[in-house]
Amino acid sequence: MKTNQTAIAARGLRKSFGSHLVLNGIDLDVTEGTVYALLGPNGSGKTTTVQILSTFLSSDSGEVRIAGHDLLKEPEAVRSAIGVTGQFSAVDNLLTGEENLLLMADLNHLSRQEGRRRAAELLERFDLGDVAGKLPITYSGGMRRRLDLAMSLVGSPRIIFLDEPTTGLDPRSRKTMWEIIRDLLAGGVTIFLTTQYLDEADELADKIGVLDQGKLVAEGTVAELKRLIPGGHIRLEFADFARLETAAHTLGDVSRDDEALALTVPSDGSVRSLRALLDRLDSEAISVEGLSVHIPDLDDVFFALTGQPKNQKVGK
Ligand SMILES: Nc1ncnc2c1ncn2[C@@H]1O[C@H](COP(=O)(O)OP(=O)(O)O)[C@@H](O)[C@H]1O
Ligand SMILES: [Mg+2]
Repeated sequence: MKTNQTAIAARGLRKSFGSHLVLNGIDLDVTEGTVYALLGPNGSGKTTTVQILSTFLSSDSGEVRIAGHDLLKEPEAVRSAIGVTGQFSAVDNLLTGEENLLLMADLNHLSRQEGRRRAAELLERFDLGDVAGKLPITYSGGMRRRLDLAMSLVGSPRIIFLDEPTTGLDPRSRKTMWEIIRDLLAGGVTIFLTTQYLDEADELADKIGVLDQGKLVAEGTVAELKRLIPGGHIRLEFADFARLETAAHTLGDVSRDDEALALTVPSDGSVRSLRALLDRLDSEAISVEGLSVHIPDLDDVFFALTGQPKNQKVGK
């Protein structure tokens, strides 16, 4: 039986590849109908975690319950409750978009008629109707990713795993994917996603787990996590000391660097806060020589949590 609506519960997950210890005792709980984001740099074990939770890979030890089913004892029941969109596409390039969906319908034991209906519905929902009869190699990255996700939804899963759903997408496709994820959530599904991007976790997740060196080094709501990391700021530079003085006086809550003639103002980095700041300076006729905006990113999180920069730099 399900207790307190936990969709995913893992205890003491461990996994090594040879002598390489990748997961060193992971515990996590995902509440039904919420989004959990597993955040970590390249190579931190995100895909390994998803593969274990979704029955593709066995752990060395640990217990997992998915939708109330024990992963080891009832893998079939687990598989029928979940949908998985992997980091590497499940799309078959020799089949059209529609054929890919119909194949998934077959694999999910839908009747031919039900499969057609489901495929048509998903093509429409993911804005793939126009390219349904085309081969996926003609698709853009965003379209491919949407087809991949549509394929994992054919069986109407209640729990969806999305492994880096937006890595490599352009900003617009990324936003579209975020909208789709929010829609799924509104439909009551539980989402477990992995990401390398703090802003993505911030945007979507009810709860975030930060994975580093095989451990969850922090776990909590976005707000809880944000309290642990240094906030964003705007750095202002001035042409001379007089302007620096006046600006510091006008803005109040700032830290100053007299030598560099610079002020650091706490800010969420939004356009609105930037505009408000500049308006205040304008109203005192203080001219600004240089300005830069700093929004906290994964590096800041890792630095705050571990005192170390993240192991590997990942390209944007
Ligand atoms: N099948 C495998 N055999 C050996 N090493 C692996 C295998 N899969 C993953 N690894 C290693 O485990 C670590 C974690 O990988 P992965 O889970 O893919 O990380 P992430 O998804 O966070 O980038 C990496 O160092 C990777 O090289
Ligand atoms: Mg991965």
